[in-house]
Amino acid sequence: MFTKDQIKNQYFVGDCKDILLNIEDDTFDLIITSPPYADQRRNTYGGIHPDKYVEWFLPRSEQFLRVLKKTGTFILNIKEKAFNGERHTYVIDLIKALKDQGWIWTEEFIWHKKNTYPGKWPNRFRDAWERCIQFNKQKKFNMYQEAVMIPIGDWAKERLSRLSEKDKIRDISAVGSGFGKNVSNWLKRNMVYPTNVLYLATECGNKNHSAVFPVTLPTWFIKLFTLEGDFVLDPFAGSGTTALACKQLNRNYVMIDILEEYKIMAEERLAKAVQLELNVIGQKKVKSNENN
Ligand SMILES: C[S@@+](CC[C@H](N)C(=O)[O-])C[C@H]1O[C@@H](n2cnc3c(N)ncnc32)[C@H](O)[C@@H]1O
Repeated sequence: MFTKDQIKNQYFVGDCKDILLNIEDDTFDLIITSPPYADQRRNTYGGIHPDKYVEWFLPRSEQFLRVLKKTGTFILNIKEKAFNGERHTYVIDLIKALKDQGWIWTEEFIWHKKNTYPGKWPNRFRDAWERCIQFNKQKKFNMYQEAVMIPIGDWAKERLSRLSEKDKIRDISAVGSGFGKNVSNWLKRNMVYPTNVLYLATECGNKNHSAVFPVTLPTWFIKLFTLEGDFVLDPFAGSGTTALACKQLNRNYVMIDILEEYKIMAEERLAKAVQLELNVIGQKKVKSNENN
């Protein structure tokens, strides 16, 4: 078994199912990943037949379950494709199988891809969203909601001008749930909690890996579910986007990918990011020296 110091900020090459056997139980605070899609991208790193997807995934998620801390979270970015003119059910089947494996299906976030190209198929429109499915080991898990608050924006100004008397008093829920809202309370605040729909642009800059997610995607979940110094795993790491996000946020990462070429690509990306940071620090120093 590796110690935590041995795995800290490392990129391992191999099948995540085998690599994880060397990592102790309860190691990670967050697992966030985008696995190979069923039968897609056959030419790059091999596809798994959609009918076999659940069977392929379960031995790997068994390891994820073991290495995730009890208070940790697993975010699975996935989207079912259409086969033979209909949506395949492998993602839905996978959710059910993961529940049977012991996971709690806590939430589903939608990643709305803001910048997809227009397109048309005979019987459907272009995909512009993907699932980010949240699983946990127990109902009580670490979540830092304040870390992802967003500016309230123009909604407040507009709503304020139209505030009714009812809005200004506590509005007891009409369905008798006991929950109520007082909209005027929210108007005094500058920051609000986001919804479970994430409006993020897709990655256009990285042409070398065919299925990169934008750095803003892992960044958002890392902020929501971890603190500085926590451990984050991406078992299908590709070009290392999750590692990049971890580096920027001072989290420790462990990356795994079956292809050596992606490790090299990730290391180049990380080195470039570090160089960029050093350049910025250098420029700031020069400026402050000039000002003194
Ligand atoms: C959708 S891509 C991940 C892309 C990544 N999120 C990024 O931003 O670059 C899936 C990755 O899983 C890797 N992969 C496929 N089977 C694997 C396995 N059994 N163990 C580890 N990695 C695997 C592929 O090589 C590929 O890079």
